Amino acid sequence: MTRLHARFKVGSTVALGIPVLLLGLVILPGRFDKAVAADPGERIVRSVCVQCHRLEGKPAPRRTKKAPDLIRAGNKYQRDWLAGWLQNPEFKHYPVGYDYKPDRKKRHLFLPADQAKAVVAFLATRKDPRIKEGVMKPGTPEQLDRGQKLYNEHGCQNCHFTPAKTAKGYVGGTSSTSFIKINERLNADWVYRFNQNPNDFEPDSGAYIPKPALPDEDIYAITAYMMTLN
Ligand code: HEC
Ligand code: HEC
Repeated sequence: MTRLHARFKVGSTVALGIPVLLLGLVILPGRFDKAVAADPGERIVRSVCVQCHRLEGKPAPRRTKKAPDLIRAGNKYQRDWLAGWLQNPEFKHYPVGYDYKPDRKKRHLFLPADQAKAVVAFLATRKDPRIKEGVMKPGTPEQLDRGQKLYNEHGCQNCHFTPAKTAKGYVGGTSSTSFIKINERLNADWVYRFNQNPNDFEPDSGAYIPKPALPDEDIYAITAYMMTLN
């Protein structure tokens, strides 16, 4: 140690340069792209999260993926919720794991607050132009009643945990994501556009779509109702 120190003292740029270079190698394997290095959130996402999540690409069915897409995370997640969940990912979106394999039920990796904040800021830029913003407003009592009726009629709870006044606090099947506290997690405009045609985003997830498709005002009512689920 002493000998090394003594040698580095000779040229301070060398002393500084080597640790910085080593750090770069650890954080950015193979990448010295200035644009990537500039945004700490993007750096984390592109080096860590993309090992499982897709950040770009055409819609692909769940069975072909390791984890849900982050392609349109900027539309999908509420920022405060996402920042909190990344620091403490207790909540399981997929009650039986993403692909039903036990190793996918392992605890999700978590990030310290500053990194979570940086990741959320970067993911907020991932948007899909097909998703219009400012469309959904809180439902009127009539819309909420109609939405609840349609939600039950179409058996949405058969595959999605749905909050209910039962001993467990919810009812529902486990084949897809849980809608517990969906009103804190997801953005209404994204849910509405997803409900209009799930296959635009997740091929094979639209099996429940009634034929003929529901009119937009019914989709709106279902979505407004969903956004009251807590
Ligand atoms: C080892 C694979 C793996 C890595 C690495 C990983 N994730 Fe995940 N992620 C998953 C799986 C599997 C799920 C679904 C788990 C569940 O039920 O909540 C998930 C769920 C999520 C969700 C909720 C998705 C939804 O719509 O239901 C978000 C958001 C998320 N991850 C963000 C990230 C971010 C950001 C990173 C990088 C910091 C990351 N993940 C790294 C595997 C991974
Ligand atoms: C036969 C099972 C099934 C039924 C019934 C069902 N869904 Fe789904 N739903 C899925 C699958 C599969 C996905 C794809 C997401 C995934 O599992 O990765 C999905 C995804 C969703 C998503 C996106 C959730 C997320 O976290 O990414 C929404 C919103 C949704 N469904 C709404 C509905 C509504 C509204 C109904 C009732 C009209 C309904 N679903 C009925 C299977 C179902």
